[in-house]
Amino acid sequence: MKFRPRLTKNTLIFGGVAVWGLVLISCVAVNRTVLAPPSVPGASFAGNKACTECHENTVGHFGSSSHSRLALADPKLGDTGCEACHGPGSIHVKSGGLKGTIVNPRKSPEACFQCHLDKRGEFSLSNSHAVLNGRMSCGDCHDPHEGNAIKGKGASLEAENETCTKCHTAQAGPFVFKHNAMKEGCTACHSPHGSVNEKMLIARDGNLCLRCHLQTTDKNGTIFAGGEDHRTRLQNGTCWSAGCHESIHGSNTSKPLRY
Ligand code: HEC
Ligand code: HEC
Ligand code: HEC
Ligand code: HEC
Ligand code: HEC
Ligand code: HEC
Ligand code: HEC
Repeated sequence: MKFRPRLTKNTLIFGGVAVWGLVLISCVAVNRTVLAPPSVPGASFAGNKACTECHENTVGHFGSSSHSRLALADPKLGDTGCEACHGPGSIHVKSGGLKGTIVNPRKSPEACFQCHLDKRGEFSLSNSHAVLNGRMSCGDCHDPHEGNAIKGKGASLEAENETCTKCHTAQAGPFVFKHNAMKEGCTACHSPHGSVNEKMLIARDGNLCLRCHLQTTDKNGTIFAGGEDHRTRLQNGTCWSAGCHESIHGSNTSKPLRY
């Protein structure tokens, strides 16, 4: 098989924008730094159309993806076509898809850090998912090709939870005694990328719980949570480690989620 570089209108637009991306090393639109994409040496941009021939499904669905829609809504955001994440594809196209001729972000998140540089910091925190060492990928939780990149977003938070419970089956339930906080999504308590707090919690103490469980203080300084006086209890440790609400995700035996 022989492949000729095709100079379609698409290629020109794509190439043009790509060059802009490289020239304007720092992104103008959103105050986020855009770095040169990781790429295969010697390759140039081929354009989305060139991918259709062999990855028809992926290209066909791409229009519904967050990144495609972003590009349409605001061209200034930069080129978010296939090669925005996969790097220049000309060698891959010419070789008929030979192994090792194109970037696959599954193997390294660098492609995403071009535009989401802040995420490198989040995944460097002491408690985080193992994305930087390649044991997990952004793609385990985000679909880059189809639909919303944040799965279930806008549908229901329970659908969003499925992103997590496909791996963390213990937290999926069903439980006899539910903790209705789960309806707010796992992210009501956890930072999905990483956190300075243990278990990637968004707060390390009772404040995690008191955001939702109204805390009332009367003139004697009494702290009520769930209608009960928690003054002495809160001194014993966190709400989930003091032997009080250890089954925080739900329980089959204890209504106050004790075990
Ligand atoms: C002529 C056919 C052909 C064209 C055109 C083509 N690909 Fe591929 N691509 C393949 C084949 C075949 C594979 C599977 C290679 C393998 O076994 O890993 C592949 C694999 C890939 C992979 C996975 C690589 C890996 O290391 O896991 C990515 C990413 C990819 N293609 C992206 C693209 C993009 C983006 C374009 C458009 C710029 C494109 N392809 C155009 C045939 C093609
Ligand atoms: C937002 C970044 C991004 C964009 C844009 C993007 N991809 Fe991907 N692509 C990825 C990631 C991430 C993976 C690895 C998925 C995973 O972890 O399973 C991937 C994997 C692939 C693969 C390997 C097979 C697979 O599905 O795992 C192919 C082929 C591919 N992409 C083609 C394309 C084509 C064609 C386009 C344009 C229509 C495109 N990609 C646009 C991020 C992107
Ligand atoms: C060329 C730049 C670019 C690249 C590369 C890129 N993104 Fe994005 N992404 C954006 C922009 C722009 C937005 C929307 C604005 C924002 O981040 O606030 C966005 C939004 C997102 C969102 C939020 C979507 C939503 O519905 O709110 C996720 C999740 C995301 N990107 C993941 C990824 C992942 C994973 C990769 C790598 C596979 C990646 N991005 C690569 C530019 C990029
Ligand atoms: C363990 C699952 C998981 C992994 C792995 C993951 N994310 Fe996310 N990410 C999420 C969830 C869940 C949200 C939604 C957060 C919310 O709704 O508060 C999100 C939100 C985002 C957003 C939009 C909101 C924001 O924080 O800016 C971006 C961009 C993003 N992720 C990029 C990435 C990139 C890039 C990677 C890989 C380097 C990655 N994510 C890996 C689960 C994950
Ligand atoms: C692809 C599988 C996978 C997905 C999807 C996933 N995780 Fe994880 N998660 C892991 C692995 C692996 C660990 C590390 C477990 C260990 O070291 O014992 C982990 C660790 C954690 C921990 C910390 C546990 C500890 O002992 O410190 C929390 C909390 C967590 N994940 C929450 C989430 C949330 C919330 C989501 C959804 C946004 C999610 N995870 C999605 C695989 C996954
Ligand atoms: C109401 C707050 C809250 C919500 C909502 C929540 N978690 Fe947790 N999660 C916690 C707390 C608190 C801990 C720490 C428990 C401990 O240290 O024993 C924890 C611990 C974890 C752990 C580590 C378990 C272990 O044994 O070390 C994983 C994994 C986890 N959560 C996943 C999830 C997933 C997946 C969801 C969504 C389906 C979720 N969490 C929703 C509060 C919450
Ligand atoms: C996102 C909001 C939210 C967060 C955060 C939250 N909860 Fe809840 N919790 C609820 C809701 C909603 C209910 C059910 C309604 C009610 O009883 O107030 C509930 C009920 C409970 C119950 C009573 C169960 C019953 O039926 O008797 C306990 C105990 C509880 N939560 C403990 C905690 C602890 C401990 C934390 C912190 C780790 C926490 N909650 C964090 C929303 C939340």
